[in-house]
Amino acid sequence: MTHVIELEGVAKRYGGADAPALGPVDLGVAQGEALAVTGPSGSGKSTLLNLIAGLDRPSEGSVTVAGQRIDRMGEHALARFRRERIGMVFQFFNLLDDLTVADNIQLPAQLTGTARRAAASRAGELMEVLGIQKHARAYPGRLSGGERQRVAVARALVNKPALLLADEPTGALDTASGQDVRELLVDLHRGGQTVVLVTHDLELARACATRTIHLVDGHVAVDTHAEAVR
Ligand SMILES: Nc1ncnc2c1ncn2[C@@H]1O[C@H](COP(=O)(O)OP(=O)(O)OP(=O)(O)O)[C@@H](O)[C@H]1O
Ligand SMILES: [Mg+2]
Repeated sequence: MTHVIELEGVAKRYGGADAPALGPVDLGVAQGEALAVTGPSGSGKSTLLNLIAGLDRPSEGSVTVAGQRIDRMGEHALARFRRERIGMVFQFFNLLDDLTVADNIQLPAQLTGTARRAAASRAGELMEVLGIQKHARAYPGRLSGGERQRVAVARALVNKPALLLADEPTGALDTASGQDVRELLVDLHRGGQTVVLVTHDLELARACATRTIHLVDGHVAVDTHAEAVR
């Protein structure tokens, strides 16, 4: 089975802390899997996601994503790898307020060297699929939270990433918008997208994920996949 993510003995220690904030953790995530990471505040969920995203480096262990050892990559190669292979969605959307919706979505494609027309066409397709086409020329500040998160998801998908990562994607949304984003993630997973989702929300984990790991104090306390295998 191809693993999109392979963590071996991964630990993260911040600054002068005695105990690691995470790990050591071993984790393999198969292609097409939808993994939810749950756990109390401070249990290491974002730390884990940031290591997988290459936004941070482990203190120990190896992080392999889409076949590449990202913990050893140089900054430049890593930045490029992130742009091309990883899509990320955050709780507070992180959109650029002075770019239109369409330009926000196209930007990562242009940054990887996709021609403007091809980038615009891919952005158009995604807006259509995600139901935000009518907002293409609007600025993010005019949209609702749920619409903004759809824009953020479209932006994350524009380069057809091997991996979609989401950190509390419904955390800032009301119930109805949260439900929309939840359904969107389920659809993406059904379409074959590998997804890792960090959430406090057990309902979201149940609805979107084929597997859940629950972190406590930086360790994997429950892995529903391991239980199923056992
Ligand atoms: N940049 C940092 N510098 C120092 N300590 C950090 C840093 N980031 C996280 N930590 C610590 O590492 C631990 C795990 O934090 P992390 O953000 O991964 O938790 P989390 O599970 O995502 O929590 P939350 O649900 O509140 O988002 C916490 O004790 C936190 O204080
Ligand atoms: Mg967090």
